[in-house]
Amino acid sequence: MSIVRLPGLIDPHVHLRDPGATQKEDFLTGTRAALAGGITMLLDMPNNPGAPVTSPAALAAKEEVAASKIVCDVGLYYGATPHNAATYSSVAHGVFGLKLYLDHTTGDLKVDELETIVAIMRAWPREKPLLVHAEDRTVAMVLGLIPFVGRGVHFCHISEKIEIELIRDAKERGLPVTCEVAPHHLYLTEEDVPRLEGFGIMKPPLKRAVDRDALWANLDVIDMIATDHAPHTIAEKQGKPAPFGVPGLETSLPLMLTAVAAGRLSLDRLVEMMHDAPARLFHTGPQPDTYVDVDTDAEWTIETVGLQTKCGWTPFEGMSVTGAVKSVVLRGREVFRDGEILAKPGSGKLISPVA
Ligand code: NCD
Ligand code: ZN
Repeated sequence: MSIVRLPGLIDPHVHLRDPGATQKEDFLTGTRAALAGGITMLLDMPNNPGAPVTSPAALAAKEEVAASKIVCDVGLYYGATPHNAATYSSVAHGVFGLKLYLDHTTGDLKVDELETIVAIMRAWPREKPLLVHAEDRTVAMVLGLIPFVGRGVHFCHISEKIEIELIRDAKERGLPVTCEVAPHHLYLTEEDVPRLEGFGIMKPPLKRAVDRDALWANLDVIDMIATDHAPHTIAEKQGKPAPFGVPGLETSLPLMLTAVAAGRLSLDRLVEMMHDAPARLFHTGPQPDTYVDVDTDAEWTIETVGLQTKCGWTPFEGMSVTGAVKSVVLRGREVFRDGEILAKPGSGKLISPVA
């Protein structure tokens, strides 16, 4: 056993489904899953099915439902539509960024018109993060727009060789871009889809081995790891077509610790990608007396039993990993130990960015 203390980790890309689709997950089960995964702060996406966070009223409603349930700290994002730019000034201070969907996925927030995309990029305050769901050609489009609109962009869940190469080039030219990668794109490929069936369907889709390898080879360009935790029920995933998304809060740190054990990155770099970089970009502010003790030697197999997520499955089932979360302390209180959640509903904080 080799216990190492890490800061409480930050997951900047999570879909907790509450309100609107709480058969998949809710603020209590989702934040319990976060703690079990060593994540003490998460940022929740706005594409709630049936209840998108694209108006000040929807934002207030989500804040209210979150407050009484959460067991880790939670911040929210706002969603862009072709028609809601007039509301940005009233919500921007309280949210961690604006999410702009440029490709089809869960929800109904895809924006198509180039003129509208440019208008949204200009309307959102320049000092606040703008997060884009872009894949393949839309990554190139956004990179092309950055000098024109003159603002920074954060690319969610980059998954392809050509995308990471474009982002490397953009960074070398000094463009203000950051990006995140999800563990499923580092550990799974399209070759896993026949085995996983609906449980291997997500946006962006699993890619070729050459894409996965390019992500590992360009790890220095990847700013942060984000789970894109996007649970759906087993019945929903067995349906045809299966909805897009996989859970990831409980498996992200073990998978990344496994990469550390394999010598693919250092523990310092893991902390940079899973804590320091999201803290810097999103101005999350400190979490005092908050830390995660991990056993970096623990070898175990990912299983469905014992998962905290309401959806009750993981695409990583059966995978052998090295590294386990032993204990999590949030603001001086032990909130997780050896598989057990010790925190009470509502003990997490609903947070806003620090100026
Ligand atoms: C996400 C979801 O279900 O909300 N699905 C997914 O496959 N990643 C939406 C998204 O991030 O694209
Ligand atoms: Zn997502």
